[in-house]
This record gives sequence, structure tokens and C-alpha cells, in this order.
Amino acid sequence: MYDFKPTGAKDAALDVAELYRELLGAADALTADEPDAVANMANVAALLWEFLPDLNWAGFYRVAPGKPQVGLSPALELVLGPFVGRPACIRIPFGTGVCGAAAASGATQLVEDVHAFPGHIACDAASQSELVVPVLRDGAVVAVIDLDSPSPARFSQTDAAGIEGLAALLSNRI
Ligand code: SME
Repeated sequence: MYDFKPTGAKDAALDVAELYRELLGAADALTADEPDAVANMANVAALLWEFLPDLNWAGFYRVAPGKPQVGLSPALELVLGPFVGRPACIRIPFGTGVCGAAAASGATQLVEDVHAFPGHIACDAASQSELVVPVLRDGAVVAVIDLDSPSPARFSQTDAAGIEGLAALLSNRI
């Protein structure tokens, strides 16, 4: 049985950096010997949900070709991957919304108020703040990790650094 849990209660005021050290250790243990990308993303989405308080969505969008169209070579876009939360929009063009901004720029997007973010895509009306971190492989974005919270300004620079560490760990595992 995989019994990965933070050492403190989910809603306790744990040291956030320590929480991410534990989360990365669990993610490393679960993904190190598994080559299947979907399995690894699914387990990491479950870990994010298990470890991080005050979320309403946690998961992945992958960079993948758009739907086939006759006579056109499909542009790359973000396609929904494994997640925990409510059903979400399936395809997001690069440059659209918070996830699309992270994919287009290759930079972390820490958004304190999603309603103030131009083009924010409201998959779940409960979302108030969001953290999106690109996963890079050989300098190219291959996926993004998306966290949504029902609380405004839920995410700090410590969260951003923690999820960036997770993205680096997963670079060749998803
Ligand atoms: N809010 C995101 C879309 C994805 S959902 O939050 C799961 C965005 O603006 O890109």
C-alpha cells in the first residue's frame, strides 16, 4: 500500500518548505522506477491533493497536437491530463488563460486573484487564486502543473519554488 501523507495534519500550519520537501520525496519514490507518464501524473496529482491544503483543483495539462483538421498540421496546445477536482476544460491554446500563459512563456504564473488575470479560464467558479508551473524538458515546455484554490492569494513564493522543484523532478518522468 502506498501510504504517503504529510507528517502534520492537512490543515495544520506546517512549515511550508518542509511540506514541499516531504511532497517531493513522496513524488520521487512513486515515480522513480515507473516509465508510464500517465501513471506518474495521476499519482502526483493525488499527492498534491493529499499534501496541500485549501485546493479545489490540482493536476496536469500536457503539450500535445490540436485536433486533426483536414489540410492543416495541428498546432500544439495544452490538453487536459490527470487531475483531482471538478471536470475541467479539455484544450487550452498557448497564450490563453493562466495555463496558456505559463506554456507560452515557460515561466511560473502565480496569480493572487484569477478574476484580475486577462483571459483567465474559469473551469471551476470556486477558484480564486492559481499557481501554474511549466514542466520543461530540454528547454521545451512539455506540460504544466496547475493548482487552483478557493481562497484569494493562497499561493506564496514558497509554493512556487516547491512546485518548480516538483516540475524539475518530473521533467523526464512524464
Ligand atoms: N484556470 C485555468 C484553466 C484550467 S483550470 O483552472 C483547471 C487557466 O486560466 O488557464
